[in-house]
Amino acid sequence: MKLFIDSADIQEIQEAKEMGVLDGVTTNPSLVAKTGRSFDEVAREIVELVDGPVSLEVIATDYEGMIREADELMKYGDNVVIKIPLILEGLKATKTLADRGIKVNNTLCFSPMQALLSAKAGAAYVSPFVGRLDDISHDGMELIESIVEIYANYMFETEVLVASVRNPIHLLDSARIGADVATIPFNVINQMMKHPLTDIGLAKFLEDAKKVPQGG
Ligand code: E4P
Repeated sequence: MKLFIDSADIQEIQEAKEMGVLDGVTTNPSLVAKTGRSFDEVAREIVELVDGPVSLEVIATDYEGMIREADELMKYGDNVVIKIPLILEGLKATKTLADRGIKVNNTLCFSPMQALLSAKAGAAYVSPFVGRLDDISHDGMELIESIVEIYANYMFETEVLVASVRNPIHLLDSARIGADVATIPFNVINQMMKHPLTDIGLAKFLEDAKKVPQGG
């Protein structure tokens, strides 16, 4: 299972990279706005910092505009993945870019049928948003199960990238279902690492280590 960080904050991305388990990055306009920095500055730094795929999102909502923006975004580096919303114009743009060998991440996926179209258009990744579905009392993980099942039925190569992750249980469930990737906010990456029994156990080991007689 690949782990991406869902962030545009360079410090967070740097720290996640240092953990040694970071496979890529996803950004969106809201995450970039939160940094208070220019898109250009942020995109340049992330693409340079990270070896794996970096999703940069288009703002245009029409086909021509999306293609134009994709061409600009690709200039940031070979590891750029064009993030395109799952609307009709986005589907057309996905097909065109995929045919040109450009990787697309279809974002804002909330239904298995959107995911089916995404795969048929040739997206490299589809991003179902589990947390936002949970927020409106729909089972986000059910969507992941359906997409993974459908993609397996037809051997689609599009990777299921679990997005809008809010807690480690989302990751546990995604891993058990067999999702290809999860993109995770920095706070949840830290939560994954934490266990009170690890901390208690370590404190005891360190305390007992002091009782071990010194000398050769
Ligand atoms: C996906 O790539 C999005 O950037 C992200 O996961 C959205 O998450 P949110 O619902 O927490 O904003």
